[in-house]
Amino acid sequence: MHKTVIGNWKMHGSRAEGHHLVSGIAEYLAENENDNVKTVLCPPSTLLCELSGYDGDTLYYGGQDCRVEEQGAYTGDISAKMLDDCGASYVILGHSERRAGHSETNELVASKSNSAKAAGLVPVICIGETLEERESGAFETVLAKQIQQSVPDSFTAQDFLLAYEPVWAIGTGKVADEATIRATHGFIASKLPEGTAILYGGSVKPDNAASIMQIAHVDGVLVGGASLKVESFTAIIGAAAQTQQEGQAA
Ligand code: PGA
Repeated sequence: MHKTVIGNWKMHGSRAEGHHLVSGIAEYLAENENDNVKTVLCPPSTLLCELSGYDGDTLYYGGQDCRVEEQGAYTGDISAKMLDDCGASYVILGHSERRAGHSETNELVASKSNSAKAAGLVPVICIGETLEERESGAFETVLAKQIQQSVPDSFTAQDFLLAYEPVWAIGTGKVADEATIRATHGFIASKLPEGTAILYGGSVKPDNAASIMQIAHVDGVLVGGASLKVESFTAIIGAAAQTQQEGQAA
C-alpha cells in the first residue's frame, strides 16, 4: 500500500501564502517523482477552488469539514458536493477540533461520511482519545466506540481513510512514542475492515515522520503545523517516500 501524506492547514493561509505553499510543494514533487506517496492538501475552503488547479497529476485536495445536507438554508456551511465541485477528492471529518469546538458527535461524523461518499469524496475519519482517557486506561473503549459509531457500517476499506490523532498530541509538540503508536494502530486495525488505510496525526514533524511511518499499520500521516511550510512538509513527503522504499527493499 502507498503512503498518504495529508496537510491540514486549518484556519491558516492568505491567497498569497497558499500559492507560495502549493507551488513550492508542486515543484518538489516534480523533481522527486514517487508513485508510492499520495500527497493531499486541505486548505481552508476560501482557497480550495483557487488552489486545486495546481498540478492535479501529483497533488490531491481535500476539505476540512462538510455538512450532511447537499444544499439549503445553512448559513456558513459547505456541502460535500460543493467541495467536489471545487476540486476536492477528500474531506477531513470528525477532527477533534470540530468534535470539541462544534460539539460534533460520532453519529454526525458517520452521517457526514455517508454524504461525502455519496458526493464522490473519500472521507478521512478522525478519532483520538484525550490525555485523561489515555491515562485512565479507557482509551481502547473510547477508540472502539468512536470507530463503531463514526464509520458507517456499509463502508469497505476502499471507501475511507481512518486518522488516529491522540488529542493530547495535536499542536502540542508531544508526539506519541513508537510503542504507543504501534499498539494503538494495531488495536485500531483489528476493529476496521481489513486493508483500511490508517494515518497517524499529532505533532508529526520532519524529524519524527520517518520513524512513525515505519511502524506497522501506519499508512501515512495527517500533518497540521508542519504542513504550513514548504520545507517541513516536503521533508515529510520525502520521509514517506523513504519508508516506502525501505519497506519494499526489506
Ligand atoms: P499538528 O496537527 O500536526 O499541528 O499537531 C495535526 C492535526 O490536527 O491534524
